[in-house]
Amino acid sequence: MKGVVLAGGLGTRLHPLTKVTNKHLLPVYDRPMIYYPIQTLVDAGIREILIVTGGNNAGEFLRLLGNGKQFGLKHINYTYQEGEGGIAEALGLAEHFVDGEPVVVILGDNIIESNIRQAVVHFSNQEHGAKILLKQVADPQRFGVAELDNDRIVGIEEKPAAPKSDYAVTGIYMYDADVFSIIKTLVPSQRGELEITDVNNDYIHRSLMTYEILDGWWTDAGTFESLYRANCLAASQAGTSRS
Ligand code: DAU
Repeated sequence: MKGVVLAGGLGTRLHPLTKVTNKHLLPVYDRPMIYYPIQTLVDAGIREILIVTGGNNAGEFLRLLGNGKQFGLKHINYTYQEGEGGIAEALGLAEHFVDGEPVVVILGDNIIESNIRQAVVHFSNQEHGAKILLKQVADPQRFGVAELDNDRIVGIEEKPAAPKSDYAVTGIYMYDADVFSIIKTLVPSQRGELEITDVNNDYIHRSLMTYEILDGWWTDAGTFESLYRANCLAASQAGTSRS
């Protein structure tokens, strides 16, 4: 199983914090943001990891992470996304690295409390298709939102004004190698991006999508409010693990 951390984009919602640095290098309590998604993949048993970065200061990732020794890794792969063409565009850059294997993808600003190892094992037992992790939230209109019919997911809407549930699609996605041919069929959304929600809906419409509910807390860190929340949650977790 390969792992991809998506840390491209320009992070404009965090200006001026991201005017001179990449969002994923900003501190979240005692570590740079990018440490958390990498640790999530490593804790799930994934050792072959690609980081897709972009914007200014992309070289700083190499300076910070090197070969990933601090995560017990021997090597980290890097690639560069020009501009801000969307999450699916960034993932498309991983095709060569993934090389036909199943892949776990995590957004570089997604921070979680628990271990996703179990879900990854379930996905590797799934012959093909995709798996996403959902989380109940108080503000679903900020996210991709799942429409559920008992244990089936019937669709996802990206940032709907009137959400059909309060289950947000977290930024942790598991795909078979078909994902790259799906990405090639996408057209940019109204915000000018190739949307990961369109990729997920393609799997859903072919009845090839499974989901699980993520344990523990989850947050993104792409707005001032969520970055502050991420800091508080990471600090409380560090406090708990020390006491
Ligand atoms: O956090 C989960 C949410 O992430 C999902 O519920 C949404 O369905 C999904 O679209 C996404 O929503 P956001 O609008 O919050 O994504 P954002 O543009 O903030 O990008 C999240 C991360 O994705 C970012 O930290 C780095 C990566 N990214 C994003 C873009 C636009 C890239 O690598 N390249 C990009 O071009």
